[in-house]
This record gives sequence, C-alpha cells and structure tokens, in this order.
Amino acid sequence: MAYPGASIADRAEMHNRNRLKLGLFAANCSSGRAATKVPERWSGEWDDNLALARMADDAGFDFMLPIARWKGYRGATNFHGSVLEPTIYACGLLAQTRAITVFSTIHAPMFHPVVTAKQFATADLIGHGRLAMNVVCGWNQDEFDMFGLANRAHDERYAYAREWLRVIRMLWQEREEFSFDGDFIKLAGLISDPKPYGGTRPLIMNAGASPAGQDFALENSDILFNLLLTPEQGRTAVAAARARAAELGRQNIKIFTSGYYVCRPTRPEAIDYHHYYVEENGDQEAYEHLLDLAFPSPQARAHHGAAALRQRHIGGNGSYPMIGSPDDIARELQMISEIGYDGMAASFVNYLDELPYFRDEVLPRLERLGLRG
Ligand SMILES: Cc1cc2nc3c(=O)[nH]c(=O)nc-3n(C[C@H](O)[C@H](O)[C@H](O)COP(=O)(O)O)c2cc1C
Repeated sequence: MAYPGASIADRAEMHNRNRLKLGLFAANCSSGRAATKVPERWSGEWDDNLALARMADDAGFDFMLPIARWKGYRGATNFHGSVLEPTIYACGLLAQTRAITVFSTIHAPMFHPVVTAKQFATADLIGHGRLAMNVVCGWNQDEFDMFGLANRAHDERYAYAREWLRVIRMLWQEREEFSFDGDFIKLAGLISDPKPYGGTRPLIMNAGASPAGQDFALENSDILFNLLLTPEQGRTAVAAARARAAELGRQNIKIFTSGYYVCRPTRPEAIDYHHYYVEENGDQEAYEHLLDLAFPSPQARAHHGAAALRQRHIGGNGSYPMIGSPDDIARELQMISEIGYDGMAASFVNYLDELPYFRDEVLPRLERLGLRG
C-alpha cells in the first residue's frame, strides 16, 4: 500500500507549502494562555476545541499544539485547572479533521515508553500521518508530586529523555524483539505493532530553552521551539541554533516560536482590549503562583522588567505579544519569518470568537506577502 505524503520531509512541511507555519497553542487548557478573569476567557472544553480545530483546518492552519499540565495555577480562575489530556485530545481531533497536523505533548518521565510508542502509533494511524510529538521533561514539582516522582536534576532530565525517545523510535521501527540497556532504562523483549503510518514516524518537537534542552532538541527532534523576546534577541537565538544544528549535521531542523494575538480593526482597539484583559482583569494570584514555579529565585526574574514580565505572562503565558490591526499582525509575522523562524504557535483570549477575523483579515495579507499559500 502506498502512503502519500507520509515521509518525514512531508510531515515536517505539514503536507503543504506554507513558508511560515501557523498553529494554535494551548486550546486544550482552560483560559488557553491568558491568565485573565474576563468572562469571555477560553473554556478549554472539548466541544469548543472540536469546533475550533475544524475551523482552523478549513482555514488552512497548519497545526494544533496542546499543553500537558496536570494541575491548575490557582487564583480566581485556577488558570489551567482544566486540561484535556493531549494524546486522547489529538486522537479526537485527528479523527475529525482533514489536513491539520495535531501534536500531543507528553512528559517523558511520567509515561512508560512502551505505552507511549503504541499510543502514538495508534494516533498517527488515526490521523494518516498527521500526528506530531512534543516531548517535555517537566518542570513543575507540584505535578511530579502527584505521580509520586521527584524531578531529576535539570540536565539529567534530558539525558533520561534521550534514552526514552530512543526506545520509542526503536519500538516504531524494529520488527524483531530487542533489548535496551541504557543508564536509566533497561528493558528486554521489546516489540510494538502496529507501526506509525506509512512506514515513517510522527514528527518530534522539543522546546528546551537551556543549553542541555537545546542540545537535546537539536539532536533528537524535527522542530525546535525557541523563545522570542525581541526581534534582536530572536535573530541571535535563531542564528545560534542554526549554527549549532549545522555542527550536529541537523541543517534541516525547523525552528518555531510561540506568541499570542490581539487583533482588532485598529491598533488602539487592540491595545485597549489587551489593557482590559491583562491590566484590569489579570488573575494576579495565578500569575504569582506561576512565577514562583517558573522562576523560583529572584535572580532568575531580575533580568525581566517587572511590568513586561507581568504583561507577557498574563497576556500569553510568557510568549511573544502580537497586538494591533491586521496590518500590524501581518508585519509582525513577516518579521518573525524574516529573522528565520519557520513557524508560530499562538493563542487568542477566546480562540473561537477571534479566529474568524484573523482568518479573514490576516491570512490573506500573509498570502500577499508570500508567507502562505
Ligand atoms: C512551545 C512550548 C510548549 C511547551 N509545552 C510544555 C508542556 O506542555 N508541558 C510542560 O511541562 N512544559 C512545556 N514547555 C516547557 C519546555 O518543554 C521546557 O521545559 C522549557 O522551555 C524550559 O526549558 P529547559 O527544560 O531546557 O530548561 C513548553 C515550552 C514551549 C516554548
């Protein structure tokens, strides 16, 4: 049987020719990426996600990227208190969409590789080669506590994930039983069937930000996500990642980043809405708890300005803000493509309410700029 479009190269292009890939980020979580109390904040419920994924698929969006989070950030809204499990979420969406790539995000330390290999092969078959894997090592000890696990020392998390991923890739590939004898993982009599779709495998992505995390991503994944703070910093980060990728013989790796949109007919309207949901209605307690988890030491926060840190974390969970008219947003995305990013995963306060305007006004502008279509 022939499997059209299942090669890794096709998968990495998400089966289309869009130069800048666009995806929706964290729609499986209550409040998405905005730690805000506004009543229109995102529900994160299944029916809303299904309607959103179908709309995004029809509009030509390239991917959906769910978050794996096991516990809310407290506060008035218990930000991320409700999170649909990403692999089951991906299966549901893949079964009911046509072209869009759907990620599942998976914590390497919490899932046995034999279970993960089979779950991902099954989901990939459901999606005819449209599943992708976001490997995360975890960073919140409160989540590890729920599993009765201690988080490993930072760099060791990635050493473990290397072995974990190697076992999974072998399970996807090997036709005969095999053993694995690593520093962390020792298993025998390993076999898994069915294999992923088309004799290849799901795309793999990782968003390691530390040197150990970035090296893991560059060596083991098809897509590296890296943080965009300013155009200058982004340009430098992309150049450094591409240089390191070249040293490792991984020139074809894609580099994506994450952000959030507030798109309104005029820039003042967009700025007003951002002020309303961030400054007037931010969930301060959830924000402070999130900061305590993400930046346990005051030194770690010190190089971010307090106002900017708050704005980004309440506005879009720390990602790059794109606030303005359709022309402004199109220009931002053009800049992001020009500094070398291949893709953008982004959120809205209410994805379903806001996507139609973005689809009708921003996507045609991106086509005219040669970034899409
Ligand atoms: C786009 C993106 C998606 C991420 N998704 C998750 C997630 O769902 N769950 C999680 O625990 N961490 C997630 N992370 C965190 C990263 O996997 C990583 O731990 C973080 O960027 C810190 O890097 P480091 O582990 O190298 O220190 C995500 C990060 C980014 C930028």
